[in-house]
Amino acid sequence: MTKKRARIVGTGSYLPERVLTNQDLEKMVETSDEWIVSRTGMRERRIAAEGENTSDMGLAAAKKALEASGRGVEQIDMILVATSTPDYLFPSTAALIQHELGATETPALDLQAACTGFLYALSLAKAYVESGIYKNILVIAAEKLSAFTNYKDRGTCILFGDGAAAAVVSDEGGGYLINDICLGADGKEQDLLRVRGGGSRNPTSAETVANDMHFIEMQGQEVFKHAVRRMEGAATQCLERAKMKDSDLNWVVPHQANDRIITSIARRFGMANEKVFRTVHKYGNTSASAVLIALDELIRTHPIEKGENILLVAFGAGFTWGATILTKGD
Ligand code: ACO
Repeated sequence: MTKKRARIVGTGSYLPERVLTNQDLEKMVETSDEWIVSRTGMRERRIAAEGENTSDMGLAAAKKALEASGRGVEQIDMILVATSTPDYLFPSTAALIQHELGATETPALDLQAACTGFLYALSLAKAYVESGIYKNILVIAAEKLSAFTNYKDRGTCILFGDGAAAAVVSDEGGGYLINDICLGADGKEQDLLRVRGGGSRNPTSAETVANDMHFIEMQGQEVFKHAVRRMEGAATQCLERAKMKDSDLNWVVPHQANDRIITSIARRFGMANEKVFRTVHKYGNTSASAVLIALDELIRTHPIEKGENILLVAFGAGFTWGATILTKGD
């Protein structure tokens, strides 16, 4: 019997309508459009509407991915949601989306690996499909980072945006074959990027609120260095495992944290700048959603030929990192 190969057979994304521009941020903190563009490449980002939740954005993206895949909700065997900004600590955002989709009794699970969340979720979907446990898996990445962003901290508030994307992973159909996924983590760097309050270690109290412990805290320069090193490492490992050379890559879709990080990855793999897909200028960093939003836009706006290879690579809090190569099938 030939081995089952997992593939992405449909994608979709959802971005909230509200736009937060650099000019808007100039009115909120001591910053400038020139500083933000030169240091990050970001010009604007999307922010969820009042009452619009992570699950709402995930649901909208999921519906589009299902439509693109030609699969009905009743064919989905498992729902995975990658998010660091769930609606609640529990129940899971996956359970909320499952209910709204009408995917009665379909197993549903959240997982959290910060900005690498989609690649971690994709690795689970691939394992389920290739082991024969499930045939069709809905992978969703959804984030409402604005709910945890301190709009008084100029070091972080310029970076983050809200948005969601989804992919259907299946054992049959053309789509994009998922080669080995290389993942890693390093918990000793946990303090460099975190939200300290609201969990069981620092339960919400007047003190945690007064000390701004429910917001994202980041040591930007340190994170930057690790991000470049880890994403290069994961991508190199992935190429080796797939027995490919840099020149076999047709597209790179990196995590959209900072245009300078993206440029450095492009240089490392000798990629022409226009072959490195970017959404960072218009959506900022949408954490787990970022790579999948960018992949969805790439697929929609550029013809990808059979046999072409797309490198996905991400890095996030934890630290966590990961990479994989998608190969366009029939
Ligand atoms: N506007 C103007 N000045 C600013 C701003 C701002 N928005 N933010 C910081 N500055 C100032 C600093 O105060 C500092 O001033 P000083 O020299 O007087 O002290 C100066 O600019 C330089 O600050 P740095 O932090 O050294 O700036 P840097 O060039 O490192 O850029 C940035 C900061 C954009 C945050 C960058 O470090 C970065 O992108 N880091 C990586 C982020 C990342 O990759 N995250 C990925 C994971 S995200 C996740 O998992 C959720």
